Order: sequence, then C-alpha cells, then structure tokens
Amino acid sequence: AESFEVLGPADPVAAVAGEDVVLPCYLKPNISAVDLSIEWLRVHTEDPVVHLYQDHEDRNEKQIPSYRGRTSLFPEELRKGNTSLKVKNVRGSDNGEYKCFIQAGDWYDDSSINVHIKAVGTHPVISIEGYKEGGISLVCESKGWYPQPQVVWMDSEGHGLPAGHTETHTDSMDLFTVRRRVIVQERETNRFTCRILQQQINEMKETITDIPGEMFHRAHPWKVAFAVFFSLGVPAIIILAVLIPRYIKQQREKRLLTKRLGK
Ligand SMILES: *[C@@H]1O[C@H](CO)[C@@H](O)[C@H](O)[C@H]1NC(C)=O
Ligand SMILES: *[C@@H]1O[C@H](CO)[C@@H](O)[C@H](O)[C@H]1NC(C)=O
Repeated sequence: AESFEVLGPADPVAAVAGEDVVLPCYLKPNISAVDLSIEWLRVHTEDPVVHLYQDHEDRNEKQIPSYRGRTSLFPEELRKGNTSLKVKNVRGSDNGEYKCFIQAGDWYDDSSINVHIKAVGTHPVISIEGYKEGGISLVCESKGWYPQPQVVWMDSEGHGLPAGHTETHTDSMDLFTVRRRVIVQERETNRFTCRILQQQINEMKETITDIPGEMFHRAHPWKVAFAVFFSLGVPAIIILAVLIPRYIKQQREKRLLTKRLGK
C-alpha cells in the first residue's frame, strides 16, 4: 500500500463572486492520483459532497445541488499528484471550509482549505419614501455584497443617525441585498449620507443626498390640518351653531302646523 500526505494552502483562498477559483490540494510525495479516490467535501454539512472522483471517473450523483456543473478536477494534473479542484462562477454560498480527502485502499489523509468569497456590491441608491412621523422617510438600498455589509446613515457632519433595522435578502448568487430606512428631520444642512461598509473585505461605498428645505415644511400634516381647521373649521362650527337650532325650531313649527291643519 502506498502512503502519502495530502497538502493544501496554508492561507485561505480568496475568490471573487462570479469568477472561477482553484482550490489547491496535492500529494506528497507527488505520486499519481489517477487510481485513488478523491473527495472534496464541505465541512460542517450533512450531505457534504462537493466533488467525488472514484474508479477513474467523476461520480457526482450525491453532489450538493448548488455545485452542479461547476466543479472539475484537472485530469492531466492527477498523474502529478495534483488533486486541486476548480469551481466555476463562484457564489456567496461557496464561502467556508472545505476538505480534500484522498484514499488509497486502507490509507487516507486529508487537508482543510478555507475559501473566502468576496463581492463588492452596487453604489447605494437612496429614495424618498414620503412623509412619516413629522419627518421625511429615506430608504437606502445596495445589492450584490459578500459577506453581509453594514448600512450606516449619517448627517452632514458624519454623525450616525438613528435608523431602522437593516433588511437583508440574498439573490440567486447568494449575495446580499441590504436596505435600511431612516426618518430625517429638518436641519441646518439637509445633507444625508448612506454608507455601505464591509470591513472584512475592506470595502466601502456611499451615496450622498441633499433634501431641499422646503420639502420639510410639508412634513407636518397635523400643522396643515390645524390650519385647515382654523380657517374652515371655526366658521363651520359657527354656521352649524346657528343653523342647527334654527332647523330644529323650523321642524317643530312644521309639526305643530300639520297637527293644527289635521284637526
Ligand atoms: C515530482 O517531484 C519531483 C521533485 O520533488 C520532480 O522532479 C518531478 O518532476 C515531479 N513529478 C511529476 C510527475 O510532477
Ligand atoms: C495544480 O494544477 C492547477 C491547474 O493547472 C495549477 O494551477 C496548480 O498550480 C497545480 N498545483 C501544483 C501543486 O502543481
């Protein structure tokens, strides 16, 4: 029986979403792996098969569905003991720890490889949602991030604004879409910044918006209601106060008249 060691990279492998990546793994000594069983697995997963090569062929019936059609070994490299795996069109869910497990009869060894997926999302888009709670509600959205980024709202001086919770969704590539709402009040400088921050990949994108001051004056519907009440309401009340008793009196006189005529 042959004995060998399975080696991989000491450092995590970085991969950009949408691109292809090679996960390195090789035998020491560099004996041929053509006749061996080569298994690429996800660690901490129930059905962990990413790629299986056995009896001289790929056997991917039990492969994790998200890897279907995206994995391959390098056939011409197997003879040199190179069992690296190519993963095409990398997606967010490919992030994590892998194992390269190689078996020859009773002998086996494995090596762990960490894959760090990175995706820099779109510039945030700020939209005005409308008037809310005496202020203006702004929404910030950015798509296509990995790992999940933070969303921060700031005033013109860079101070954080109290905002709602960050809504998070994943797209078909398992990348993150983030959305966060803030209700802003009129200030001296109505300039607001939405910053998307991903510290693990050292990326930041931000968008600044200026809200015209006049927009805030319409932000107080109760003020408008109040004004309407005083311009229309008070006269209306006076009119009603005069008309209602008059109407009641008329009705009573009418009734008395019919009674008298009926007799
Ligand atoms: C195996 O490694 C040795 C050096 O360690 C090298 O000389 C030889 O060419 C390698 N064999 C193959 C098939 O790559
Ligand atoms: C294994 O093969 C891949 C693909 O050709 C190559 O990028 C990588 O450098 C090889 N690794 C070794 C240790 O030879």
